[in-house]
Amino acid sequence: MNVVMIGAGYVGLVSGACFAEFGASVICIDKDAAKINALSDGNIPIYEPGLEDLVKRNTAAGRLVFSTELPEAVAQADLVFIAVGTPTRRGDGYADLKYVYAATEEIAAHLSGYTVIVDKSTVPVGTAREVHRIAKKTNPSADFDVASNPEFLREGSAISDFMRPDRVVLGVESERAEILLRELYRPLNLIESPVLVTDLESAELIKYAANAFLATKISFINEISQLCEKTGADVHAVAKGMGLDGRIGRKFLHAGPGYGGSCFPKDTVALIRMAQEHGVSSRIIEAVSEVNASQKARMVSKIRQALGGSEADKTIAVLGLTFKPETDDMRDSPSLAILPALVDKGAIIKAHDPEGMAEAKALLPHSIQYMDSIEAAVSGADAIVLMTEWNQYRGLDLAKTKSLMRGKVFVDLRNVYEPELMARHGFDYTCVGR
Ligand SMILES: NC(=O)c1ccc[n+]([C@@H]2O[C@H](COP(=O)([O-])OP(=O)(O)OC[C@H]3O[C@@H](n4cnc5c(N)ncnc54)[C@H](O)[C@@H]3O)[C@@H](O)[C@H]2O)c1
Repeated sequence: MNVVMIGAGYVGLVSGACFAEFGASVICIDKDAAKINALSDGNIPIYEPGLEDLVKRNTAAGRLVFSTELPEAVAQADLVFIAVGTPTRRGDGYADLKYVYAATEEIAAHLSGYTVIVDKSTVPVGTAREVHRIAKKTNPSADFDVASNPEFLREGSAISDFMRPDRVVLGVESERAEILLRELYRPLNLIESPVLVTDLESAELIKYAANAFLATKISFINEISQLCEKTGADVHAVAKGMGLDGRIGRKFLHAGPGYGGSCFPKDTVALIRMAQEHGVSSRIIEAVSEVNASQKARMVSKIRQALGGSEADKTIAVLGLTFKPETDDMRDSPSLAILPALVDKGAIIKAHDPEGMAEAKALLPHSIQYMDSIEAAVSGADAIVLMTEWNQYRGLDLAKTKSLMRGKVFVDLRNVYEPELMARHGFDYTCVGR
């Protein structure tokens, strides 16, 4: 089966490599020539565990090719996936579909023989029908269907998520499209991954509703964490006690600095706009988004308070910059809201991140110093802020860390450490909700 992936970003590259691993013949197309050249030379432009091996293996086997040339690839394809970005549109919060529609026009012009155009990007309800309309207008005689196949992989565990998904959602309008997509995902039958076939609109909404629900769990526990701090309850115990209820579940109940990343912030906002457009309320999701913004602001106050009321001229070692471990993705990371606020008030920031520093440099204030080791970051610091729970930060040599610092403030925004342990090592320890 010939598969073309338009967009070789986090989703396109992982999906393309995994489809190749399933046995399909895959061409990943991207407009970014530097990215395609790097990939063709075996260099992976993003950090994602296991991706390099997977790409190398499938490239060597001849099943995975990278190119900037769309026409010939599309002409030979059975399935063309659109995996381009759908960022928040400046000014109004809608999902910006210009990349999706531009890709559609390019694809449509080169369709040859029956082809399924598949939206893998996260797109508002109605986009698949618009893609169909644009493709038909561009190439009236083309023989094609449009399908929706939203992607649920998480950065940091993207390959196992793709290879062992909780479910595959296929929004289709024709049996021909369903047959081709089922055939592509057939290797997942072996592990009995559920395949849910729906109409186009439901498939599109499933993705937004799922992300909004997960974001709701995070904002919910973050709000509860405030009540814990005021009442003396421990958010760990509360989350555990809630999560052991099978109807609630334990995942996504970790209090912290708020959700970030390339999906939850933009997808919640896009869902709110989508609801407005259709004249329905989305009060829960609006609150989720507001709670998330205030949680980030609350973290700034927490750090300030831990430093005795002012961060001016204080040296703060920041451990972790990415929105979560095992990725270099800095998009909407809480650090992008928290660190500029500290710098504004005169804090001196020495930051460390195992993979995110190159991305971070372009997005954070210039005064931030980037250190190439944990020791260099914490040496002489008045305070440590643990921002992202990378494994390297979970098992710090606490005695050594303390001895390298000038001060003793440790603000743990991920609740990695136990308060008693930190007190024993002489830290003034602050965390979230306990
Ligand atoms: N990143 C995630 O964890 C994740 C998970 C699930 C779903 N999604 C969704 O998947 C989509 C893609 O996200 P991403 O994180 O992979 O984005 P990304 O920005 O990493 O990658 C998008 C790629 O598309 C390329 N591109 C844009 N227009 C093109 C065109 N016309 N032709 C060829 N290439 C083109 C860009 O150069 C870029 O390399 C988004 O809708 C996102 O919401 C992302």
